[in-house]
Amino acid sequence: MPNIVIVGAQWGDEGKGKVVDLLTPKVQVVARYNGGHNAGHTVVVGGKKFILHVIPSGILHPGILCVAGNGMVINPAAFDREKAELEELGVAVGDNLVISDRVHLILPHHYALEALSEEQRGSRALGTTLRGTGPAYEDKVGRRGVTMGDLLCPDSLEEKLAEARRHYEALVLGAGRKPDVDWEGVVAELVTFGERHRSKIKDASLVLHQQMARGYSILFEGAQATLLDLDHGTYPFVTSSSATAGGVAVGAGVPPSRIDGVMGVAKAYCTRVGTGPFPSEAEEGAAEALRARGKEFGATTGRPRRCGWFDAVAARYATRLNGFDTLAITKLDVLDELEQIPICTAYRFEGETLDEFPSDLSVLERCQPVFESIPGWKAPTPGARQWDRLPAAARDYVERLSELVGTEVGIVSTGPEREDTVIRDQSALASWFS
Ligand code: IMP
Repeated sequence: MPNIVIVGAQWGDEGKGKVVDLLTPKVQVVARYNGGHNAGHTVVVGGKKFILHVIPSGILHPGILCVAGNGMVINPAAFDREKAELEELGVAVGDNLVISDRVHLILPHHYALEALSEEQRGSRALGTTLRGTGPAYEDKVGRRGVTMGDLLCPDSLEEKLAEARRHYEALVLGAGRKPDVDWEGVVAELVTFGERHRSKIKDASLVLHQQMARGYSILFEGAQATLLDLDHGTYPFVTSSSATAGGVAVGAGVPPSRIDGVMGVAKAYCTRVGTGPFPSEAEEGAAEALRARGKEFGATTGRPRRCGWFDAVAARYATRLNGFDTLAITKLDVLDELEQIPICTAYRFEGETLDEFPSDLSVLERCQPVFESIPGWKAPTPGARQWDRLPAAARDYVERLSELVGTEVGIVSTGPEREDTVIRDQSALASWFS
């Protein structure tokens, strides 16, 4: 039974949640491998909207085992809030969720450090989500982090927090501020959190291996996206985790040899939240129209997203890094009313045409997009469940994206509901789950 990775091909918010939700009935396990509650995966079912942050989107399906892999970072209070919100909407979050004992915790001092760091960067602020994610990963790499597993031995918690506390206080004092974290309160909350969720905290890599040994399939749900990947994204305007398909092996404890396929998810246009280069960004009028039609406001922070046109150079790069077997093109309906639709096919830099995404940020920042214009279809696409029910010009647009990226398109999404989806018969997707 295949294990499949779902990865964002752009700067996030591509609609991975919906794609994971669609494919979940074909698998037995859904696992996250990176990120924290900086992510916001929106799934709409029967008009009900679910926003998931750290709990895998598979949780919406009864009988599916969900796993939060070791590559994630979790804030206990945010986790409890998300769990309570889901339960209020009738979604059970109990033994169907395993949290890796190696997941690192996002603690109050991480929020404070992130706010301080963004403030100190001034006009070069990264525009982070201010969820403490980056500093939690910094503590992990600095070997002073505290993990979910540590909560199972509460007696040594204070000692384990000591290094992180020292580091935090040095930074805050160095900035001329007063440290103001209530560490006793932090320990008390962590102890009760650990007691409450003890049965969920496990060796998640072992759990995943046991599931595979039973012949079960795993869907790996990427958070953030390729161009926000710490190593391969538009550094330093990136997130702090490995968002690409390669992150699965590290962030879930599953060997690369057990990954059978990778699906990239890309919007039919492009958005970005936060600072950093965005070569195909649209002019304000067109960006505003895309934002309004696509409801392009952050699921986590509510921030307006920057909007632009499909960037085939960036999508080719994402294909190179992740090895996409197939693509899901989402939010095609947002383009339904346009007369002409630009696609960025290459970049211009100092008189040269670039077909490959530059690794040097100072080059990328100065790249100009080369656009080709495709006629729009000026007809509604939501509800078209078959490829041949899409307007001919819409099919041509999708085929052109596929040609430019060099990857087949297996799914076209034309609205937030599960029903607003075309799944193509002859795609890699069909062969995985035949
Ligand atoms: P951080 O992940 O909060 O550290 O933010 C780093 C960059 O990643 C910022 O530009 C954020 O806007 C962006 N980012 C983080 N998570 C998401 C996401 O889920 N969708 C889109 N952008 C994100």
